[in-house]
Amino acid sequence: MKITAEQHDFCASMNLDSVRIPKHVAIIMDGNGRWASERGQERVFGHMNGINSVRASVEAALRIGVRHLTLYAFSTENWSRPQEEVDALMDLLVSTLVKEVKDLESKGVRLRTIGDLTSLPVECQDQIAKSKESTKHLDSLDLILALSYSSKWELVEATKQLMKSGIDPDALEASHIDQYLATFGIPDPELMIRTSGEHRISNFMLWQLAYAEFHFTPVLWPDFGQDNFYEAVRDFQNRSRRFGGLLDTNHTMSKQG
Ligand code: FPP
Repeated sequence: MKITAEQHDFCASMNLDSVRIPKHVAIIMDGNGRWASERGQERVFGHMNGINSVRASVEAALRIGVRHLTLYAFSTENWSRPQEEVDALMDLLVSTLVKEVKDLESKGVRLRTIGDLTSLPVECQDQIAKSKESTKHLDSLDLILALSYSSKWELVEATKQLMKSGIDPDALEASHIDQYLATFGIPDPELMIRTSGEHRISNFMLWQLAYAEFHFTPVLWPDFGQDNFYEAVRDFQNRSRRFGGLLDTNHTMSKQG
């Protein structure tokens, strides 16, 4: 889908090059707990306020023409948090989808997920299925929630499938592995953002981030707004992307076409 005149003008007003907007941005939303404790509140308060930043990121992605936005909402490792926090996060997921799905639909946002959904409470699974169904025809933006996701889980699952497929090991290529990943059909992220000042990728899209640019910001997730999103994209546009070669592809072409 081509960029609209409105997106082009908006990019220009934000000092962004509309031709070099990353097609896929992935975000590790971090710092909710710290944000809450700075305010003398329970961790869940931070997660609740983090929803505003989810909304802001979806809005920013739509305004500048990002086509895929992946949010690391719940990792496989997050199951080890206190049950009360896990329950609150699951409730928040359901209530947010119930509240926001009409708005997402009106904006052309398609909801997708990556991760082991079977481990989520049944009411989460049901609400996710409904929200996916009602948005499946939309194509302005794919909002991809990583839920009960970890990259090592995904790679183990892919390996099991590959082994079952009976493929000749000597014929194995990267494209075969791509086919069995949860992200099959979605271009790899070109930009990965992590909030809260941590500099690690925490078992997130290890395969898919092979050539991504990383933007780390000290901003805690509940404070992350549209301007922070545009700043990350500006940072991306200032990088020299050579994919191991010598040519700066960020200034000539995008890897995914
Ligand atoms: C990390 O902060 C954040 C999470 C584990 C959950 C992120 C979830 C949301 C923003 C809400 C649900 C999302 C959707 C899409 C409905 P942390 O708790 O690890 O913070 P800390 O490092 O300061 O403790």
